[in-house]
Amino acid sequence: MAETVLVTAATGTVGRHVVTELVDRGATALAGTRDPDGAGDALSGGARPVAFDFERPETWGSALEGVDGLFLVRPPGVARGRLTDFADAAARVGVGRVAYLSTLGAERNPLIPHHRIERHLADAAVDHAFLRASFFAQNLHEVHARDVVERDEISVPAGDGATSFVDARDVGAVGAAVLTERGHRNVAYDLTGPEALTYDEVAAAFSDALGRRITYGDPSIPAFIRREYASGRPLGFALLMVGVYTTARLGLADRVTGDVERLLNRPPRTIRDYVRDYADEFRRE
Ligand SMILES: NC(=O)c1ccc[n+]([C@@H]2O[C@H](COP(=O)([O-])OP(=O)(O)OC[C@H]3O[C@@H](n4cnc5c(N)ncnc54)[C@H](OP(=O)(O)O)[C@@H]3O)[C@@H](O)[C@H]2O)c1
Repeated sequence: MAETVLVTAATGTVGRHVVTELVDRGATALAGTRDPDGAGDALSGGARPVAFDFERPETWGSALEGVDGLFLVRPPGVARGRLTDFADAAARVGVGRVAYLSTLGAERNPLIPHHRIERHLADAAVDHAFLRASFFAQNLHEVHARDVVERDEISVPAGDGATSFVDARDVGAVGAAVLTERGHRNVAYDLTGPEALTYDEVAAAFSDALGRRITYGDPSIPAFIRREYASGRPLGFALLMVGVYTTARLGLADRVTGDVERLLNRPPRTIRDYVRDYADEFRRE
């Protein structure tokens, strides 16, 4: 059981919830951020911000002081080697367990960085828990809120494919649980929501929760890329999204597991829970 946990990407979608849950469990949560003075808004009370940057190894030693557990996230754009070097440094200074935020199916896809990072951690001198998460519900506001607010539309090229959306708050709760409870050594968990929904069904959940009609637009891939690029998104990000939504379109994102319920002793949050709790993100002024 870890008592002092360094959470990387602590101001991010999942990390902030890991921090909150660790504090609730009475653990010491060190919130790793490149900007410890400015991280206040993203972090709840009780977290201790610490300067940490994967790209600046000179920050690693002080961030790892007194740490026995690590919540490891690969932020977008950080090279795999940086992450594995840091994991090795953590093992060298005595960190006993690592929970790594991975993605559903990583074990079957040798082409993605998560696969190789998992392999590295499996061979490292530290106990690991791989949290292979499905698509986060929170992408719906972090990436697509503007379409909903301005056009009452969710517009992604996912066809009729279903996705087993998982709520990032549940992923964060699992992260804190596996680091602070006994067991969970050298394991992998597949974290999904309770059901797989098509984007038509997601739009219906939005309509009910927001009290106005939200529709699902299923653009062609070129039209989606053109629109995302025109709205200022980098081409690389648009292409990444095409990959994700094509996976859903092909019916490869719909696997539902019972791991979240088993680990948290309660059902995972639904998309309806998510839209209700984040409704302000989708309201018009
Ligand atoms: N989105 C999905 O549906 C999904 C599903 C499954 C798995 N995943 C995986 O989840 C991971 C991302 O997690 P997330 O969405 O919680 O992260 P996120 O919201 O993208 O947050 C990234 C955080 O990383 C920090 N960061 C950026 N560059 C850094 C650096 N050089 N050194 C240290 N920290 C840095 C930033 O914090 P500061 O600015 O405070 O430093 C930022 O808040 C990815 O590996 C992704 O593949 C995502």
